[in-house]
Amino acid sequence: MDNKTVYLNGQYLPLNEAKISVLDRGFLFGDGIYEVIPSYSGHLFHFSEHMERLENSLSSIRLVNPYDRAQWLEILTPLLDTSRDQSIYLQITRGVDSKRDHTFPEKTSPTVFVMCSNIVPFAKLDSGVKAISVDDSRWELCNVKATTLLANILLRQQAVEKGCAEAILVKDGYVTEGTASNIFAVIDGILITPPQGHEILPGITRNVILDIAKKNNIPYSEDIISLDALQTASEIWLTSSTREIIPVVQLDNEIIADGKPGPLWQTMNRLFQAYKRASHE
Ligand SMILES: Cc1ncc(COP(=O)(O)O)c(C=O)c1O
Repeated sequence: MDNKTVYLNGQYLPLNEAKISVLDRGFLFGDGIYEVIPSYSGHLFHFSEHMERLENSLSSIRLVNPYDRAQWLEILTPLLDTSRDQSIYLQITRGVDSKRDHTFPEKTSPTVFVMCSNIVPFAKLDSGVKAISVDDSRWELCNVKATTLLANILLRQQAVEKGCAEAILVKDGYVTEGTASNIFAVIDGILITPPQGHEILPGITRNVILDIAKKNNIPYSEDIISLDALQTASEIWLTSSTREIIPVVQLDNEIIADGKPGPLWQTMNRLFQAYKRASHE
């Protein structure tokens, strides 16, 4: 199917015909969660890990998963296209109530929506990107992939208005992640990323990179990174399913190392691309 077809509550429809009620709690409260799964030439990348995170997000907001994994696969498969790389966005909200009330409604069925877009290779891979550091003003459940993204939006906008690709978030002096990405730094030759917990999203790309590092004897650790330590890093990367591994070459007003994507990034990006290709051959 083309990317203009979406899935909404049991039906495949043209995007412009997919409508939800203004009383949907996703619209009124941002009361829902989402997932983004890459599909390479029609193959879902790390489907089980995305489903596991979806299940964790749903149970954190006390929503029952409307489908089991086989049913999700049945829903997603008709939307996949073997001739391109797609990003599959799926969202589940607590559904439509008869009035606007913060308390969970007693009886509603969730709203389930899926849409696809093409993954466009990130343009600035060769030159790297700039980032700013800003206070992490988000809530305490950053491990939940909630649609309530107002803080992330405001922080990302701040970065873009300063000519940067991403804002690196800092809580109590320690780096957490980007507004829509996890962070890695190379400090004293070791690849470091903050540990999992309530302060970061457990990124699927993050975990794939850690696995690749382990299998290739690249020294790595999951450890806290202070902003002071980040400023001494020889490399900084931002990772996500749609942008993959983005090298940061300037943090705030400081150039990192020689201002070019670093040698470990070159190695990891090559290994990651090979891993991706192997996953759908
Ligand atoms: C806040 C945040 N952290 C990290 C990530 C990276 O997660 P993944 O690698 O699963 O795409 C994302 C992805 O959008 C994100 O929104």
